[in-house]
Amino acid sequence: MGSRMALLCLLGLLVASPAIAASGIYYQLALMWPGAYCEQTSAGCCKPTTGVSPARDFYVSGFTVYNATTDAPVTGCNNAAPFDPNEIIGIQGLQQYWSSIRCPSNNGKSNWKNAWKKFGACSGLEEKDYFETALAFRSRINPLVRLKAKGIEPDFGLYGVKAIKKVFQAGIAATPVIQCSKGPFDKYQLYQLYFCAAEDGKFIDCPAPPQYTCSKEILFHPFKKWMLKQLQNEGADPFVLPGVAMEI
Ligand SMILES: *[C@@H]1O[C@H](CO)[C@@H](O)[C@H](O)[C@H]1NC(C)=O
Repeated sequence: MGSRMALLCLLGLLVASPAIAASGIYYQLALMWPGAYCEQTSAGCCKPTTGVSPARDFYVSGFTVYNATTDAPVTGCNNAAPFDPNEIIGIQGLQQYWSSIRCPSNNGKSNWKNAWKKFGACSGLEEKDYFETALAFRSRINPLVRLKAKGIEPDFGLYGVKAIKKVFQAGIAATPVIQCSKGPFDKYQLYQLYFCAAEDGKFIDCPAPPQYTCSKEILFHPFKKWMLKQLQNEGADPFVLPGVAMEI
């Protein structure tokens, strides 16, 4: 081995966290703030047809298993397992925290099917495990409750990106990647948070963080029940309480 190669190996060892080096994969979870989504989507948001109320909280919007060597999503399974909706029936929190509030009102199945087809089937996880693992990570992060505890609330206020990151550095010892979108008054607003976890479930800083543009301070848009268009003849409150902890 040439000395340059040896140096590269040494640097690699120093840089890679032991958890990653040991496992060969890591997870990346994307959590979407529905208040921003509804604000920026011209079609608006719709209450799901299932009758189950979505949570007033961050939703799982993506869950990807990455190859820790290449930092690319794990793919290449030849005959990906087909999506079986029966497998995920009854998963606790699925409808509340992995909600499809896209219009027109829908039952969420195509949303889950796409997630499975695109990232789940090749992940090495069984279908039920794939969804449960993502929801368990979301539950441990419990983003809205953590943010609110530090006074960061969806109240149209402007909050520092650093302050938001600090909440999670203190809470789960990992820094999220923050994705902003253009909100009202031409301000950047909090849209999605990306978290990574090693195969053993320990949260880590994302090794290949996606890059997004935000301003130093970003708007935290409210998420109100009137933002979810109701089906005709339905007057019930579409929300359940935020941050209801799930036992998974
Ligand atoms: C990660 O990628 C490397 C290089 O392509 C490959 O040898 C390895 O098997 C992959 N690991 C996983 C878990 O897919």
